[in-house]
Amino acid sequence: SDKYITILGAFFVDLACRTLRMPEWGETLHGTGFSMGPGGKGSNQAVAAARQNAKVELITRVAQDTFGEMARRVYEDEGIGAGHVSNDPDAPSGTATIIVDDARGENAIVIVPGACGNLNRSDVDAASNTIASSTLFVSQLELSTDACLYGIELAYRHGVPVVLNPAPAVELPREVFSQIDYLTPNMSEASLLVGREVRTREQVASAAATLREWGVRHVLITLGEEGVYVSSENQERVIPAVNAGHVLDTTGAGDAFNGGLVAALAEGLPLMDAAHFGCAVAGLSVTKRGTAPSMPSREEVESLLERAG
Ligand code: RIB
Ligand code: NA
Repeated sequence: SDKYITILGAFFVDLACRTLRMPEWGETLHGTGFSMGPGGKGSNQAVAAARQNAKVELITRVAQDTFGEMARRVYEDEGIGAGHVSNDPDAPSGTATIIVDDARGENAIVIVPGACGNLNRSDVDAASNTIASSTLFVSQLELSTDACLYGIELAYRHGVPVVLNPAPAVELPREVFSQIDYLTPNMSEASLLVGREVRTREQVASAAATLREWGVRHVLITLGEEGVYVSSENQERVIPAVNAGHVLDTTGAGDAFNGGLVAALAEGLPLMDAAHFGCAVAGLSVTKRGTAPSMPSREEVESLLERAG
């Protein structure tokens, strides 16, 4: 069919070190491994969705350097539409320097958006026909907030359902919430958005209620290993995480969830089923190291879902 998802988001090269604990400031530590690979939330979500057989168009910006070449190779290999991947003449490609705690699988990340940080309204305008004809519009908050909000507004004006993964969290103008169909924060992002603590199940439910009062139609707050809290018109449920084996690296798990979710929504699955599907994609991604390279295939997800019942 001619259905496709448009994703406006970042490509970064992930530079990931593994250590047995976080270094202190001023300390040098021996790490246990290093890897470099494609990352950035928008690009990761594009890969996750494309591996579930969704058709994806990506809007991003890369440099004319070896990192930019890496991005283009990924989009070619994954069958991701790159007609709106522009080249930045000046800035280097964005990078994410990641430390993964090898004992617990947790991470800390510093992003430097580089070329992606220069993506602006005119890049979004150049993709307006693509946005207007898509089944879903998806974004995150790694590009400039202005570019993200402009993309959301454009999609909204064309009646295209908007999915916003508000990561990393920044404060957003109140007006944007009524343009969002699906909002997918984790607990700390939800906390920043509503301006209060979000840790207990009650606080999660109350944050979701606030976001819905502000106009978001469906709120999905991811709860890490507990799954995702879904709050929608007269339905509120925790969709449990799907365990796919030993957790090696949780970096990019949120992207796996979002990519799986949007692929399932684009296929017309009901929200709760799409959230369950997203959880399966995330569950598989954490059993492998890295972000985009750890996204599972459709076959892997289907066999996990069969086993999980
Ligand atoms: O969500 C994980 C991603 O966040 C990493 O790939 C890294 O690039 C950061 O942007
Ligand atoms: Na992973």
